[in-house]
Amino acid sequence: MKDYGHTPVLLEEVLGFLQASRPGVYIDCTVGLGGHALEILRRNPGARIIGFDLDETSLQEAAKRLADYSSRVKLFQADFRNLLEFNRIIPFDEVKGVLIDLGISSFQLDNPERGFSFNLEGPLDMRMDRRQKTTAEKILMTYPEARLAEIFKKYGELHHTRLLAKKIVSQRKLGLLRNTTDLKKLVEETYRWVPQKNRVHPAAKVFQALRIEVNQELKGLDEFLEKLAIRCSPGTRIVTISFHSLEDRLVKRAFQNLASSENRKPVVRILTKKPVTPTPEEIAANSRSHSAKLRAAERV
Ligand SMILES: C[S@@+](CC[C@H](N)C(=O)[O-])C[C@H]1O[C@@H](n2cnc3c(N)ncnc32)[C@H](O)[C@@H]1O
Repeated sequence: MKDYGHTPVLLEEVLGFLQASRPGVYIDCTVGLGGHALEILRRNPGARIIGFDLDETSLQEAAKRLADYSSRVKLFQADFRNLLEFNRIIPFDEVKGVLIDLGISSFQLDNPERGFSFNLEGPLDMRMDRRQKTTAEKILMTYPEARLAEIFKKYGELHHTRLLAKKIVSQRKLGLLRNTTDLKKLVEETYRWVPQKNRVHPAAKVFQALRIEVNQELKGLDEFLEKLAIRCSPGTRIVTISFHSLEDRLVKRAFQNLASSENRKPVVRILTKKPVTPTPEEIAANSRSHSAKLRAAERV
């Protein structure tokens, strides 16, 4: 198996903004394979991790990777947006940092069975949490044409989405939309795709849009950040990494609202005027990092 997770994105920047050398609790909202968590535990003997992920298989891998530090780790299969319900488990007055590294990992993307990649043939699944009923297939087979078009436009930032949705609906009636390859081919035909340097494959955008809809990735992210920041103690640092503009915009606005002194005392101080992005060296070493944007704020 490929050794995933050893290249957590923006690692030094994350540790720096979290001030992760302070003893205390760090909440890893998206523990994935535990890449960031491992470095926090390895470098700081006084750190404890409470980790969440929707993906059972990723959590199993994280547990293996973090095994040497198991006495300082608690992992839960849960949506981080429900984190405040874990108030019996999380000692908020001891929480020094919260990390939210959004999206999916290469471990998920590179497994054809998960259906996240348009380059690998697999089922149209795309669920992070496989206990969930809604899959990409269900959406493609049951959503009305107009709703499909809207999702591709909104979450994939694509043009001509009505034509794409129309083709999907006619293909599904014929039973011709069976897997990721069928969908990729349909997208390529619709957009008359010819590979060109520096152009994003339209299927990447279609798959992104479907993944966001399947996992409801943007839903309540801003409300969550608001409630989380209010719940945290002064000095707690919140660090987010997003991989597309819609997500980044939500985080940016949430931090701005929390930092504003218009209707209340500011809840946070923004630590990143502009988002922090990977260096060219990091992008060369880990191409997945190319669109990453880190934002950080401190509870005041
Ligand atoms: C980019 S990866 C995290 C990688 C991790 N920081 C590491 O170093 O290994 C994102 C992870 O977040 C999980 N995830 C995404 N949205 C989530 C949510 N709302 N609640 C819990 N986990 C989520 C995904 O399943 C995935 O494993």
